Amino acid sequence: MPSAIIVTGAAGFIGYHVARRLIERGEHVVGIDCINAYYDPQLKLDRLAELERLGGDFRFSRTDFADADALEGLAAALDFDRIIHLGAQPGVRYSLENPRAYVQSNLVGHLNILELARHTQTRHLVYASSSSVYGQNGKIPFSTGDRVDHPVSL
Ligand SMILES: NC(=O)c1ccc[n+]([C@@H]2O[C@H](COP(=O)([O-])OP(=O)(O)OC[C@H]3O[C@@H](n4cnc5c(N)ncnc54)[C@H](O)[C@@H]3O)[C@@H](O)[C@H]2O)c1
Repeated sequence: MPSAIIVTGAAGFIGYHVARRLIERGEHVVGIDCINAYYDPQLKLDRLAELERLGGDFRFSRTDFADADALEGLAAALDFDRIIHLGAQPGVRYSLENPRAYVQSNLVGHLNILELARHTQTRHLVYASSSSVYGQNGKIPFSTGDRVDHPVSL
């Protein structure tokens, strides 16, 4: 059996659609999500049920990737070689109300994913950033070469 692709945030908006496309093209997909309550968790559970219904090679783990031990324990039991990292705490306004959620998921959790990739046979890691990193940049469209030292949110 080919190695799996880990999709973090598989119950989220983008992660669900990515996982779905991968399952439909016959990939072995391991979804990770903590199903947080940033918006209605039932929507996330419904998305996971849809992924299960596809009948493909899909496995899900309710894991918080900001918990390094939990992530490493899960990964040790998996045969994977690619990671698509779409789990995150999104939203600009909420980052002012609850900055700790961003530090946990987007800083601590992101580092945990990078470390996982570094210490395993991961061939490829993709993640979604945010246009917020470009701050009030008036130059459209944004480019990965643009300055990112004045982000609009944490
Ligand atoms: N939706 C957009 O229009 C858009 C645009 C640009 C960038 N992005 C970026 O794409 C990424 C995904 O966005 P989305 O719209 O799918 O968000 P989403 O909130 O729908 O999905 C994110 C998922 O990650 C999970 N998650 C959060 N912290 C976690 C943790 N510590 N451990 C495990 N799971 C965790 C959440 O439960 C959620 O299901 C984010 O980084 C976001 O900033 C989104």
